[in-house]
Amino acid sequence: MDKPLLIGPFSQLLPMTNLPLKGSLKDVDLPIIENGGILVSEGKIKKIGVYEDLKSPDVDVHHIEGQYVCLPGFVDSHTHICFGGSRARDYALRNAGASYLEIAKAGGGIWDTVTQTRKASQKQLEVGIMDRSMIHLQNGTTTIEVKSGYGLSVDEELKMLRAIKNANAKTSADLVATCLAAHMKPKDWNGDVAYLDEIIAKLFPAIKAENLSQRVDAFIEESAFSPAEIETYFEKAKEMGFDITVHADQFTTGGSEVAIKFGAISADHLEASTEKEVQLLAKSNVIATALPGASLGLGCAYTPAREILDAGGALAIASDHNPGSAPMGDLLTQASILGTFEKLSNAEVLAGITFRAAAALNLSDRGTLELGNLADFVVFPTDNYQEITYHQGQLKPSAVWKNGKQVFE
Ligand code: NIG
Ligand code: FE
Repeated sequence: MDKPLLIGPFSQLLPMTNLPLKGSLKDVDLPIIENGGILVSEGKIKKIGVYEDLKSPDVDVHHIEGQYVCLPGFVDSHTHICFGGSRARDYALRNAGASYLEIAKAGGGIWDTVTQTRKASQKQLEVGIMDRSMIHLQNGTTTIEVKSGYGLSVDEELKMLRAIKNANAKTSADLVATCLAAHMKPKDWNGDVAYLDEIIAKLFPAIKAENLSQRVDAFIEESAFSPAEIETYFEKAKEMGFDITVHADQFTTGGSEVAIKFGAISADHLEASTEKEVQLLAKSNVIATALPGASLGLGCAYTPAREILDAGGALAIASDHNPGSAPMGDLLTQASILGTFEKLSNAEVLAGITFRAAAALNLSDRGTLELGNLADFVVFPTDNYQEITYHQGQLKPSAVWKNGKQVFE
């Protein structure tokens, strides 16, 4: 067995430990270890502490010269980076005044990407995922959730989920697949919700048989599925042991109540959530996930993140990277900008893209730097962690480590 590896010293090491999963962190000082080091063995964290104290003849050393800040690798708990084509035309039309829903009704929107994704081979989708995850990884994101949802038939959803599984085997980042077969009613079913019966009967068992995903998602919206239409889909998914997550309250409310009813792990979007939904979410165990990339892509309101935290809710922040509503895909930029508009402290922004985002994926082995967790961390070339959100994503990582290995420098 190799000797444990000591990495450091870091001017500031932020383990993000001993912080609550829920509620405001406005007045919380982030725990900081000055001149910190991380001891890694077999891809996991063995010890965190002052670098000099961790030195011993029993460890190898990866000594770092200079001023650096180290944080847990970021977790992006909501993306759609498996897709074909581009929606640059939608973006231009929207900016010229057409609404997202008008574009969808006129034949653009999600269905356009479904058409392009169906045309792509599984291999082409896999390459697209790998290219996009490499950029996310270089920006410090070591775990990336990836949804299906642009196939919208049993075979096409399977093609997407297999592409995600194959890409996961090849990239250094961890890709967490989610089945979003209920992204919209497929046009080839003429709006018939019997489509979902076929998904339940054929797709869910196939996903289990090939171990393609543990998570099931649905878009609850006037343009997609109503709370009543989605009941059986979520009931069956739960019965089969899938974790539930919901696209909720993006334009109209209803989705977050579905999330609470089905014990979802997370409810994502929430731009339209009112005081009522904020209070209900805060009382529940559902992680509320803000997607500022969709607000920026659509020119819409931000998720009421400040209200969610002040009400006692758990707030994760994710990129929603997708070709339609959120083409930018830069998590740190978006989380920093959400912080300026929603008045979030650095602790709240960083918690939202580390341990609170890991909780949104039901993962307890990452998001904090502590004994036994994956040795996933991101290193920034600065001596003060406040520089990170201050530069709104333009201060790029100087190194990223995944499972105890430096994957990018
Ligand atoms: O999370 N809201 C629904 N789904 C995606 C948009 C997908 C698309 O426009 O292609 C979202 O924003
Ligand atoms: Fe989404």
